[in-house]
Amino acid sequence: MDLFDPRTYANVRKPLLEAETLPPECYTSEAFYKKEVETIFMKVWNFVGRADHIPNAGDYYTLDFVGVPLLIVRGEDNKVRAFVNSCRHRGAKVVTGTGSATGAAKGIKCGYHGWIYKTDGALAAAPGMAASKGFDKKDYPLRSLKCSMWAGFVFVNFDDAAEPLEAFLGNLPQAFASYKMEEMTCTRLKEYEVACNWKIYVENAMEAFHVPHVHRASINRQRGSVQNDRTFDSTKGNWVVMHKEHEGSRAILLGDEGFERIASLEGKAGRGTYYPLMFPSTMLGCAIDCMWYLEIHPVSANRMKLLVGSCFPKSTVERPDFERISQNYYKRWDMTTQEDLDISVVQQEGVSTPFSVPGRLSEHEPLVHAIDNWVLDYVLGVKKKVRTFEGFSLQDLDVLPENVVA
Ligand code: FES
Ligand SMILES: [Fe+2]
Repeated sequence: MDLFDPRTYANVRKPLLEAETLPPECYTSEAFYKKEVETIFMKVWNFVGRADHIPNAGDYYTLDFVGVPLLIVRGEDNKVRAFVNSCRHRGAKVVTGTGSATGAAKGIKCGYHGWIYKTDGALAAAPGMAASKGFDKKDYPLRSLKCSMWAGFVFVNFDDAAEPLEAFLGNLPQAFASYKMEEMTCTRLKEYEVACNWKIYVENAMEAFHVPHVHRASINRQRGSVQNDRTFDSTKGNWVVMHKEHEGSRAILLGDEGFERIASLEGKAGRGTYYPLMFPSTMLGCAIDCMWYLEIHPVSANRMKLLVGSCFPKSTVERPDFERISQNYYKRWDMTTQEDLDISVVQQEGVSTPFSVPGRLSEHEPLVHAIDNWVLDYVLGVKKKVRTFEGFSLQDLDVLPENVVA
């Protein structure tokens, strides 16, 4: 099978109700993963964390994203910048973990031989280099990367020629404005190392078909857990979304005490939960009282890192009972995250057998279909001027749009 021949995917390209899943090799082949890194992660806007992790000028954090060590810094001018975390002396990671620029120069010091960089990436001090001929500090700044923000989310793009973040996100900022996510605080960030392909986890998060089975002991006990009360809104840009209508907050378990609702919510946002996916791999849960995010750092064909961020409005975080009540939310996220991680590893093991073949999709999995086709567009080099998804409701199965039926 040629993984880079469009004919291999003729059945994935069919409308949802006729379509097959991606071939198992797309989840196991290092060659396919390498191509995804090249054509997707090196080209698009990647979410790399919330700006509220670095609230003060000089604060920084580090991460490894598809093999690139990154350093995210809030500058003296309050601007958030991204750099390749590799020293211009002999290439060591300048720093690891989180911290704050220190000293009179407000600099970030490389732990190997003490070169110091300013928060804008300029090399401020290069001890031991005085005798080196033709060496000028200004020629050795940290390699900077395109970095933009939306609603407190920090995005990095490795392609200097990339379109602006606003163009990539399309009408997503407008659709989620009433959550006021830029005013939220991330109160807990939990990390998991997961033995599965990044698409396995993304596909899982973007369908609710598995909820009665995988989450039968947790969120499935909430009211309104039927399959056909979900809608998929129309979108423009590199995102898709699922909405579930229900009472109360989907971020706590049935009967648990929660926080007040976000007063500014409008329309369907106030009547249930929105689950958007910002392509390629960032998912949010937007409940009536909080927001949680799933940040993925792909590592290899069958490994990824997952970060789960818990975000609440500032007014909620300031409540005297925040510590106590927030435990109900953390408990729910810990439970469902583990359930999803476990089934993702089970699926990875299942698709890794030489006997594994493509399967079929149901009406409950339009976003799995959309994800697979988005990935193929990038990997196979299919350019589209504007990306759109035509929405529908599972209650209107007789009037399905083009992307669902032929
Ligand atoms: S590698 Fe950073 S100072 Fe030498
Ligand atoms: Fe799930």
